[in-house]
This record gives sequence, C-alpha cells and structure tokens, in this order.
Amino acid sequence: MKVAILSGTVYGTAEDVACHAAAFLSAAGFEAWHDPRAQLPQILEFAPDALLVVTATTGMGELPDNFIPLYSAIRDQFPAWHGLPGGVIALGDASYGDTFCAGGELVRELFAELGVREVQDMLRLDASETVTPQTDAEPWLTGFMAALRG
Ligand SMILES: Cc1cc2nc3c(=O)[nH]c(=O)nc-3n(C[C@H](O)[C@H](O)[C@H](O)COP(=O)(O)O)c2cc1C
Repeated sequence: MKVAILSGTVYGTAEDVACHAAAFLSAAGFEAWHDPRAQLPQILEFAPDALLVVTATTGMGELPDNFIPLYSAIRDQFPAWHGLPGGVIALGDASYGDTFCAGGELVRELFAELGVREVQDMLRLDASETVTPQTDAEPWLTGFMAALRG
C-alpha cells in the first residue's frame, strides 16, 4: 500500500517526525513516500492509497509557511481523494492554549472537504511535554497501519 507523507515545519521537528514515520512504515512493508518539498503534481504521480500529514503550528494557530503552497494547491485543485484513508499528526505546544495544534485542525478540515477519511483520531504531540516526538508517534503509527490494513 502506497502512503504519501506530507509535512509542514518551521524548525524541522515535524519534518523529522515525518522522516521517522516514513522509515517506520517502510519497515512494516508499506510503500511510504516522503519528500519535504513535495508539490501536488508529484503526489498525484505517486498515486497514494493513503495520506499521512505531519504538521507543526505556528503564529496564532497557523500552518507553517512551507506547507501553505501545497495546502492551497490541494484546496484549489481538489484532487479526487474522496474515500482515501488518512491521518494527521499535529505538533504543537499546549502553552498556546486555544490554538494548540490548530495547524493539524486545518488539515483535518481540508480532509473533510476532500472526503479523505480519517482512520484514527489526530495525534497531538505537545512540545512542552516531550523531547522525543519521533518515537512518541510510534504507537499511533502502529494503530494507523493496522487501520489501513483493515
Ligand atoms: C512563533 C511560534 C508560534 C507557535 N504557535 C503555536 C500555536 O499557535 N499552537 C501550537 O500548538 N503550537 C505553537 N507553536 C509550537 C510549535 O508548533 C511546536 O514547538 C512544534 O513542535 C514546532 O515544530 P517544528 O520544529 O516542525 O516547527 C509555536 C511555536 C513558535 C516558535
């Protein structure tokens, strides 16, 4: 099964988590693809069977700048991903209060518009609680893979 992993980051943590997720899924036999600079045409060429988005939150609950062009392209071009399974890993910091992991929530809204089916509740990785987000994501990734395998 082909899983496209997309990432949005300011300081690199979300990209590290996405890289680790790609290795973790590959080791379990999935065809995981992660290119931090991926744009929509390459993703469409890969023809994913599932989507995993790993994104940080910046500003006052905004998506990282490096993810906005891809987010906008997906929203504008509306690829035929209806029914595709997906999942979101959100990095944030609970000290931001109401905007905790708001970037991840924006991705969930996009999934809902596209009809991408979240197979597992969004994972929230709190930078005020952990310094090992890559490995913290592993149990969630195990559940995600189980859901994809059905
Ligand atoms: C300027 C700035 C604004 C931030 N705003 C938010 C926010 O609104 N909500 C949130 O949950 N986290 C916020 N964060 C925390 C980051 O999302 C968190 O530290 C994350 O792990 C950074 O990931 P990155 O290294 O991939 O950029 C903010 C961090 C910075 C530096």
